[in-house]
Parts: sequence; C-alpha cells; structure tokens
Amino acid sequence: MRDSEGFTKLCRLNDLKENEGRKFLIDETEIALFRTDNGVFALDNVCPHQHAAIIFDGFLENGCVVCPAHGWEFDLRTGCKKTGLRGLKSYAVRVENNFIYVKTDEADK
Ligand code: FES
Repeated sequence: MRDSEGFTKLCRLNDLKENEGRKFLIDETEIALFRTDNGVFALDNVCPHQHAAIIFDGFLENGCVVCPAHGWEFDLRTGCKKTGLRGLKSYAVRVENNFIYVKTDEADK
C-alpha cells in the first residue's frame, strides 16, 4: 500500500542480494530493484527493445544494468541508455528502518 508520498514498501534491505536484481509488481507496474554498494535503485523491468520483462535479470556493470537479451545498457540511477537517450523509467527509492520503499507515481524525471 502506498503512503501519502506515493511510496510502496517492497521488501527488507537484506532480502536483496548485492549486485543481483529482483522484480516486484506495484499495481500494474513491474519494477526491477537492484542493490549495489552505491545504494538501491529501481527501474522499469520491461526492456524497451523488445518489451521483454527481464531487466531484473540483467548483469550489473559500471553503474549500469545490461539487458540479458541483447545487451542494451541502462544507467541504474537514471534509466538512460549510454547515449544519454531515455531508456527505462527510474523510480525514487527510500530505505528506512531496513525496509525499501519505491515511489511509482510521478515516475518521470
Ligand atoms: S530485449 Fe533488452 S536488449 Fe533486446
């Protein structure tokens, strides 16, 4: 359930392994959630290339997630492709009391 700021509680921080993604569904939106030593990041789980819901399964490298299907890369912070062009939506993340919250409204940055 969303709080008054639009954040939804997804899981405990410790439920996420470092450098591995997990997918979550918030309403109709599939979210790929990643934990790295730079923080926790939330992106759309659906790759814009062939609309495959596999971003959570991507490989993490240099602050990017690499789509496992054909290798498109998206910045974990912004969702942008390496060219700077818009790729995936990114979502605000809040970590509080060891729980991860993601905001899915006003998702466009
Ligand atoms: S489906 Fe992601 S790169 Fe092709």
